[in-house]
Amino acid sequence: MNYSYLDFLALFGVGGAHPGGLKLTKQLLAEEKVTKQTSLLDVGCGTGQTSAYIAHHYGCSVHALDCNEIVVEKAQQRFSTLKLPIDVKVGDTESLPYPDASFDMIISESVTSFTNIAATIPEFKRTLRPNGVLLAIETVLEQPISDEEKNQIMTFYRFPQLLTEAEWHTAFTHAGFKQIEISTYQPSTDQTDEQHAADFTLSADIDEELLDIMEEHEEITKRYEGKIGYRVFRCS
Ligand SMILES: C[S@@+](CC[C@H](N)C(=O)[O-])C[C@H]1O[C@@H](n2cnc3c(N)ncnc32)[C@H](O)[C@@H]1O
Repeated sequence: MNYSYLDFLALFGVGGAHPGGLKLTKQLLAEEKVTKQTSLLDVGCGTGQTSAYIAHHYGCSVHALDCNEIVVEKAQQRFSTLKLPIDVKVGDTESLPYPDASFDMIISESVTSFTNIAATIPEFKRTLRPNGVLLAIETVLEQPISDEEKNQIMTFYRFPQLLTEAEWHTAFTHAGFKQIEISTYQPSTDQTDEQHAADFTLSADIDEELLDIMEEHEEITKRYEGKIGYRVFRCS
């Protein structure tokens, strides 16, 4: 079996699998106007930690989508245990199964980087309402690296592209977003929100090969510290 990094996240059922975790999510949302009337999509929802937080905290209409059936099942389980009325489905960001202008906000937490952005970003624009906001926490290339290094990162994460901040900006602008605010997320030693630090839903059969994937992820993160970074893009 040839597992990917995303298989590892799915089979371990890692919640909050994005830089900054739920702590950053809470901070970002606190700066937004989210009310009970807000219609929000959590794309690439993983096991649904963020969706559950939003539905519980804001009581708004939450839609969650992921292309991985394993995480969607785990998210469904989480929502039904917590009795949260979240619409969750298997689907692809590159062809979103929602009508035009469905959402006031789309949140993509370490998801768009894994997709073909030329298809995904226009889909975000299409399904957002005219005044809608996209919040995306994504990986950026901080400085030039060799083709070999770039290849190692893209192959391991199966990223279709690895963009600089300026390239992300261009992609959002091309899709029709007018205002793009960018902030840097700086990982610190205290990245986790203690309350949700251990959010795992392990699948029944965990192959040892998955532990190698986890190790390689840690190695790559260390090796490319300073070369790979994270940004929060707020696009409207
Ligand atoms: C790094 S995980 C982040 C999960 C979640 N947002 C979180 O913060 O815990 C990336 C997620 O994006 C999903 N994903 C990747 N490509 C996708 C696509 N084209 N359409 C929908 N989901 C996708 C993966 O299945 C995975 O659950």
